[in-house]
Amino acid sequence: MKIISDIQELRDHLRGQNRASFVPTMGNLHEGHLSLMRLARQHGDPVVASIFVNRLQFGPNEDFDSYPRTMQADIDKLEKEGVYILFAPTERDLYPQPQEYRVDPPQQLGDILEGEFRPGFFKGVCTVVLKLFSCVQPKVAVFGKKDYQQLMIIRQMAKQFALPVDIIPGETIRAEDGLALSSRNGYLSIEERAEAPELMKALKEVRERVIQLKDRNSHSISEIEKAAVASLAKRGWQPDYIAIRQQSDLAPASNEQLQAGEPLVILTAAKLGKTRLIDNLEI
Ligand code: PAF
Repeated sequence: MKIISDIQELRDHLRGQNRASFVPTMGNLHEGHLSLMRLARQHGDPVVASIFVNRLQFGPNEDFDSYPRTMQADIDKLEKEGVYILFAPTERDLYPQPQEYRVDPPQQLGDILEGEFRPGFFKGVCTVVLKLFSCVQPKVAVFGKKDYQQLMIIRQMAKQFALPVDIIPGETIRAEDGLALSSRNGYLSIEERAEAPELMKALKEVRERVIQLKDRNSHSISEIEKAAVASLAKRGWQPDYIAIRQQSDLAPASNEQLQAGEPLVILTAAKLGKTRLIDNLEI
């Protein structure tokens, strides 16, 4: 595997390749990331991965400084997966000047859910992803469905800017007890790790209640959301949201849409101690 930090050197290496398959990451790779590398291999060649902890997508009180950086272990994993190039720019490589041009996603998608609780997050994500696309110029790029809203926003960005890249979604990989794999799981204490699968259980319970609602029209969607937030809070979580949304645009779902069989998704973010976890479940 070739490890490259310089944009020009990356372009030189990829010259003439028009089927590259790209997986952008912030490192601290786990089985979820590696499954994206395997998916990338099915959709193009060569596979290019990137590792870059992108300051622009972290808020002032977030974990940019403490975000786990495990470069050597990541390199070993990517080598085993047969990744052809690891693009690992420094901040100076990727942002040689302050990044003043930014990509601002539309409010109705970028300022809801994660965007409401992490202002500017998707602006930072879109800006770095557009820049990484410009460096790698891939034919396809793979993003995990664990970051459901991110995947949707990047898809829309690629569409609206007519970027010549297909966005491929990768399924969420879970531990045996149901916890979605995430680099931030490493922040959990032993007790918190034992409690963490309750987030997925809460999503499954919401899904059951939504399905019952479809059959019996018993509760309203917002009652189900509120009850789920309350029961997580009772267990000691600090939930930011549990939201039942339309899969197509993440707008709030109505009982009518549910009855009409509109595909829905339940999204959640909640803090356990100091660790903020996100997850989702499609209905
Ligand atoms: O999902 C991530 O790891 C990041 O948001 C991404 C897409 C690599 C952009 O920094």
